[in-house]
Amino acid sequence: MRPSALIPALLCAGALVLSFLCLFAGQKKGFMENYHLLTLNTSRIGYNIINTTSENSNNPLTNLFNNITDSLGNELNDVAGDIAEALGIDDFYSVHILDYCYGDYTPGPVANSTLKQSSIHKNVTGCSNRTAMYEFNVTRILEQALNDSGVDVTLGDLNWPDDIQKGIDGLNALFKAQFVLYCIAIGFIAIALLSSLWGLFPSGRLTACCNFMVSLLAFLAIGLASALVTAVIVKGSDVINKYGKEIGIESHKGGKFMALTWAATGLMFLVILDWIFEFCIGHRKHKAATYTKHG
Ligand SMILES: *[C@@H]1O[C@H](CO)[C@@H](O)[C@H](O)[C@H]1NC(C)=O
Ligand SMILES: *[C@@H]1O[C@H](CO)[C@@H](O)[C@H](O)[C@H]1NC(C)=O
Ligand SMILES: *[C@@H]1O[C@H](CO)[C@@H](O)[C@H](O)[C@H]1NC(C)=O
Ligand SMILES: *[C@@H]1O[C@H](CO)[C@@H](O)[C@H](O)[C@H]1NC(C)=O
Ligand SMILES: *[C@@H]1O[C@H](CO)[C@@H](O)[C@H](O)[C@H]1NC(C)=O
Repeated sequence: MRPSALIPALLCAGALVLSFLCLFAGQKKGFMENYHLLTLNTSRIGYNIINTTSENSNNPLTNLFNNITDSLGNELNDVAGDIAEALGIDDFYSVHILDYCYGDYTPGPVANSTLKQSSIHKNVTGCSNRTAMYEFNVTRILEQALNDSGVDVTLGDLNWPDDIQKGIDGLNALFKAQFVLYCIAIGFIAIALLSSLWGLFPSGRLTACCNFMVSLLAFLAIGLASALVTAVIVKGSDVINKYGKEIGIESHKGGKFMALTWAATGLMFLVILDWIFEFCIGHRKHKAATYTKHG
């Protein structure tokens, strides 16, 4: 019996739970919504363009804009939130591993003198169907929203930059791979968990060694998944912020998701250290046993 093997078993169990949460966060409305990979803030889409084209009546946006201002009789600033709404576009689109969700910021999308940034919350309207390895295509999602709303505005009218989708397309292979990597990581962590339970019984160095190997594989798998997902988050946000700025969309990085996935990786690292320690202890005990036998 090796009660100290309980520690790596518990650490593995923790890592397993965290990895499952990474995979399933946001998989349905309101379930760990803030653990998104990235959130596209489209609440001010078209704001800049409307500002510059409000005299140019060729752009269908102008009519839409005039209608909104007429009906509200308001300053552009107050109307801004309503542009996305009038276009049928949601305030935000948050990307998760298995789906994306959309909805509106409540009470309003932009902080002002009475509304603090920290008191703005996401109100999720719905989520896409859960799909393993879906392709995140912002252009198609927004086009669909514009079509469904029936307004006579296209993404072209909004000066939608093609570079955004090009940048995201470059990441889609990685984006799809991360689902597979999380599944592999979860598999290895589960094996490492079973293996450390097995390590509870015989106390030879062989079990410590096998456990070390298995947990090393699990660590590499979850580490690779975390590195990849971090790359997708950082690169994706950079691309969207770089090209989206001029049409009023921005991307927020999923800090909480990164914390979750790296915490799982950290736990598996501790498991490895633990098994190295067990191996050395086993080594010392073995030596001591040999000395007493022969000495
Ligand atoms: C909108 O236009 C006004 C006047 O033309 C300008 O002062 C303001 O900075 C513009 N706002 C944006 C966000 O471009
Ligand atoms: C701040 O924003 C909220 C929500 O959009 C709005 O109800 C409120 O009137 C705004 N306050 C000011 C001072 O603009
Ligand atoms: C959404 O984006 C706009 C500008 O693009 C920004 O002013 C606003 O603070 C953002 N809203 C949230 C909730 O982050
Ligand atoms: C969230 O949105 C729904 C409609 O989609 C609305 O009925 C509800 O009041 C909103 N919740 C908050 C807190 O604004
Ligand atoms: C989502 O799934 C439902 C049934 O499960 C289906 O009716 C619907 O068309 C799907 N939606 C999309 C966008 O694929």
